[in-house]
Amino acid sequence: MAKSVVILGTQWGDEGKGKIVDLLAHDVDAVVRFQGGHNAGHTLVIDGQKTVLHVIPSGVLTPKARCLVGNGVVVSPKSLLKEIAGLEQQGVEVKSRLGLSPACPVILRYHEALDLAREKKRGKSAIGTTGRGIGPAYEDKVVRHGLRLADLVDEARLRGKLEPLLDYYNFMLVNYFGQEALSVSEVADEALEYGRLISPMLMDITGQLHDLRDRGAKILYEGAQGALLDIDHGTYPYVTSSNTTIGGVMTGAGMAPGDIDYVLGITKAYSTRVGGGPFPTELHDEVGALIAERGNEFGSTTGRPRRCGWLDAVALKRMVRTSGITGLCLTKLDVLDSFSEVKICVEYEGVSDFPIGAEDWDRLRPVYESHQGWSGSTQGITDRSQLPAKACEYLDRIEALVGVPIDILSTGPERGANIIFRDPFGAS
Ligand code: IMP
Repeated sequence: MAKSVVILGTQWGDEGKGKIVDLLAHDVDAVVRFQGGHNAGHTLVIDGQKTVLHVIPSGVLTPKARCLVGNGVVVSPKSLLKEIAGLEQQGVEVKSRLGLSPACPVILRYHEALDLAREKKRGKSAIGTTGRGIGPAYEDKVVRHGLRLADLVDEARLRGKLEPLLDYYNFMLVNYFGQEALSVSEVADEALEYGRLISPMLMDITGQLHDLRDRGAKILYEGAQGALLDIDHGTYPYVTSSNTTIGGVMTGAGMAPGDIDYVLGITKAYSTRVGGGPFPTELHDEVGALIAERGNEFGSTTGRPRRCGWLDAVALKRMVRTSGITGLCLTKLDVLDSFSEVKICVEYEGVSDFPIGAEDWDRLRPVYESHQGWSGSTQGITDRSQLPAKACEYLDRIEALVGVPIDILSTGPERGANIIFRDPFGAS
């Protein structure tokens, strides 16, 4: 029986991970975030009420689950505190169940200012970031001068580090980006107040996870974004700044590969992307517009419309292999209901090596396989025998192309709208 399950997006994010984490979290001891930050937006619909989570693990709506944020997550204390307040207003107890690694890099006002200024400067080649300061915070970590959550609870340490940092960034903001300088004392005072509020939640997350694993506890690792946004394996530079593939669990939570029993890859029945960057199967016609409309494809963090296209089985297969995905969860099949034709990209014309960057990706020409669509609704179906035959053929073909089974089919936004062919926690 699997005790540690990882959930990863296999496309460009927004695959519906939040709902699946929530579904699998009902019986787990801990739900863990290990990369990304509040650029993520995991939407849950429970009893008709919609909740969007950004940094707090999606297990928070399961009272028994502890919610742990590993060292690989960049934390904006401002956004986190707002999220906690929002949930507590809805009657969800958060503070006593939330643990934050003191090693999490901190996102403060200057990271957001830099993110926005950089994007503006990039003009037409803007990445289309969420503007949340994610890249600049990871950059601070890699340059080795960034603040971590632990720094917010020690005034002398905080002021000592912040002064030279803001000296440097204010120079850039003013002289290079033509923006206003930020006040060191204001940023420091704000950060210290955040530190006071979050200090009870700081703890050794890796140590906790080692203990939980040793005790045979059930742990769910919740990925944010998707594999094609991975800083190393995605459509660089149109990517996020963390490892969204499996390695992120090891570095961002401090667990070993052998501590993972099952990896669930989430994929939509088609593809979407927000922001700029290559998207070989993107549809610029009425079919793409129909997918966007029926799938309600608008970003849950920024509200931006998502670009839509057919499923790319070449990229999916590569990401399945890269992350050692055990089984897939296919979401939003119902969006394709009653399409007369459904296509899957099965090859890139004349290309054998997988693309490594935007320039290669931009040159790709997808080769499609065409499938007859199905009539009738798949929405809310909980039994495979009720699925239209043509829909089953579509699922079978995806499994054959990608080489792993579809273990879960999500048939609607509600918690109960699924067909579970194999429970990841039941798998051995
Ligand atoms: P950043 O993560 O804000 O730096 O944005 C980098 C790229 O990742 C942009 O194209 C964003 O639209 C995309 N991105 C970041 N977070 C998400 C997400 O949760 N879902 C989908 N795309 C995302």
